[in-house]
Amino acid sequence: MDKINLWQCILAPMAGITGFPFRKTALKYGADFCFTEMISAVGFLHNDKGTLELLKTGNDIAKTGIQLFGSDPDILAQAAKKAADKGFKVIDINMGCPVKKVVKTGAGSAILKDLKRFSLIVESVRSALKDSALTIKIRSGFDENSVNFMEIGKIAEKSGVDAIFFHPRTRSLMFGGAADHALIKKLKEGINIPVYASGDIFSVSDALRIKDYTRADGVMFARGAIGRPWIFTEYICARLLDKNKVCAEPVIDSIERNIDYKIDIMLELTGETCLFYGKERGYNIIKPHLYNFLKGFKGSKNLRIMVNNAKTENEIKDILNIFKTSRYEYTGTN
Ligand SMILES: Cc1cc2nc3c(=O)[nH]c(=O)nc-3n(C[C@H](O)[C@H](O)[C@H](O)COP(=O)(O)O)c2cc1C
Repeated sequence: MDKINLWQCILAPMAGITGFPFRKTALKYGADFCFTEMISAVGFLHNDKGTLELLKTGNDIAKTGIQLFGSDPDILAQAAKKAADKGFKVIDINMGCPVKKVVKTGAGSAILKDLKRFSLIVESVRSALKDSALTIKIRSGFDENSVNFMEIGKIAEKSGVDAIFFHPRTRSLMFGGAADHALIKKLKEGINIPVYASGDIFSVSDALRIKDYTRADGVMFARGAIGRPWIFTEYICARLLDKNKVCAEPVIDSIERNIDYKIDIMLELTGETCLFYGKERGYNIIKPHLYNFLKGFKGSKNLRIMVNNAKTENEIKDILNIFKTSRYEYTGTN
């Protein structure tokens, strides 16, 4: 508990999305904290080149957690210690990834169905760390017959885990169905370490509602932040207004409509991404962000097709500039 500051809103780990440029932008526009995407503990211990790129941080290391995945308690503990030695103050273990390739190796959400190994992992990693916090990111269970988040939470609390990020879907659900936020509320009531809400938080109003209902310590934006790094600022403003009993809707609405400001942020993110990854990889990495950003504007379908077909950074910048001068109307539905 002492090892982490309580965060209001966090950028979730997302493979292929939360590289250095996007994390930097999210922190600049209000995220209290962010995570690297999941990094193989084995790859990290072998100084794998791709792995080193994933954990690049600038001055923001104090606000960046590293997320490790693996299945072996000793290897995870060694990797966690190495991360702490490199300056990471928060080390998270992935216990939610549903992807077959990962689950097959006993990592990600496979850890949830083996409580003995779960305990060994948290105990080994905890004892390998001195000052850094240990957090875990979990789902509600492996499948509908093994929903065991409460048991997991209680063992975690006893073993010195500092916080839990909770995506309340089973592994079998993958991303289907709806996140069951009632489970977050239960976990929060059942244990005494911070619990953060994840799952289907696509907008500021989702985040306010879920925070209020679950009483979670904070919220984690994932898909809702792709192409919308300002969602953190909007959320912080909305919470302030909420606290002061001012209705947040009109203010959020007007920020939502402040398109020029957002296009400038997207241009900045495009530039940072192409600088970091090089132009060729950069414009592929920026595409999901632009695609999401352009959703919700009436008549923007053609622009999304143009983004998909774009081959250079300049083409992408041109598309954003066309968008800026065209005054598309935001309807939230297109
Ligand atoms: C493209 C993508 C990549 C993801 N990669 C990771 C990951 O590396 N580690 C992790 O713990 N969760 C990962 N997640 C899960 C998210 O962190 C989050 O828990 C999940 O998307 C639910 O939140 P949402 O419904 O608000 O998107 C990923 C999700 C997406 C969409």
